Amino acid sequence: MVILMLNKLQEEIISLKKEKNAIILAHNYQPNEIQEIADFLGDSLELCIKATEIKGKDLVVFCGVDFMAETANILNPQKKIVVPDKKAECPMAHMLDAEEILEAKKKYPNAAVVLYVNSLATAKAEADILCTSANALKVVESLKEDQILFGPDNNLANFVAKQTEKEIIPIPDGGHCYVHKMFHTGDVVFKKERYPNADLIVHPECNMEVQDLADYVLSTGGMINKVKNSDSDEFIIGTELDLITRINREIPEKKCYPLLDDAICKTMKLHTLDKVKNSLENEKYEIVVDDEIAKKSLNAVERMIEVSK
Ligand code: 13P
Ligand code: SF4
Repeated sequence: MVILMLNKLQEEIISLKKEKNAIILAHNYQPNEIQEIADFLGDSLELCIKATEIKGKDLVVFCGVDFMAETANILNPQKKIVVPDKKAECPMAHMLDAEEILEAKKKYPNAAVVLYVNSLATAKAEADILCTSANALKVVESLKEDQILFGPDNNLANFVAKQTEKEIIPIPDGGHCYVHKMFHTGDVVFKKERYPNADLIVHPECNMEVQDLADYVLSTGGMINKVKNSDSDEFIIGTELDLITRINREIPEKKCYPLLDDAICKTMKLHTLDKVKNSLENEKYEIVVDDEIAKKSLNAVERMIEVSK
């Protein structure tokens, strides 16, 4: 068991959390000091599932990006969901809007719409079902339709397309994550020369040529499980740097090297301990999805959770 030494501000946050009957949910890309005080740390799917299990809490502080807090609100319309910094957005989630989905649906009327959870609530309202990087293939395979409109991440769409007989139509053209796009095959060659015995694990948001060189292509939660349960002792990890921070803290006996030393999701780092404290004290900044949009999106979120069980 890892014993953590918390600083004064972290201790204050923990007692405020009790006072407010609050829970802190955090994504695996949060900085170490926030990971240490989170009640639950996970990937997007784990966070969605956790958001269905918070009934006894009065306040949820969500340390992640906009689409994650929105999804928690869709699942808990009566609950107060706050984010420490309201500018914490995922740029990819803003690459596909509801109008583009409706246009695509006109062009492919028989296709099902599978949306990556990294999308806005207004877009989710037009989806048949959501998916995350942990369950995308399973979600697609669960559908009766043979034609699938899939967005907004083109790399995740291609990752699924390689493993299914169904026709995957990526929308929009060029949807991507700027962090995972940074990885190139040259980085793999460089790190493999340095760590020849390490297994390469990358995220499905990475370019296909990088995915093709990997031993495993997994969600951030899947990466943690792989490192924990594998017989290998060394790994090169192709995702955001703070996922490695979590692995190093929780599984110190394994060695993990970043595929790139500057793969940082800037908006994930907008949350700080001071801002988390402010969130708890002043119940700010509240994330509220429009009622109609929330009702329209709920089915797609719940369907995904059902398929993932
Ligand atoms: P995970 O669901 O794998 O944690 O991915 C979330 C994300 O935003 C990746 O960039
Ligand atoms: Fe969005 Fe990429 Fe950041 Fe994930 S790492 S939240 S996909 S910008």
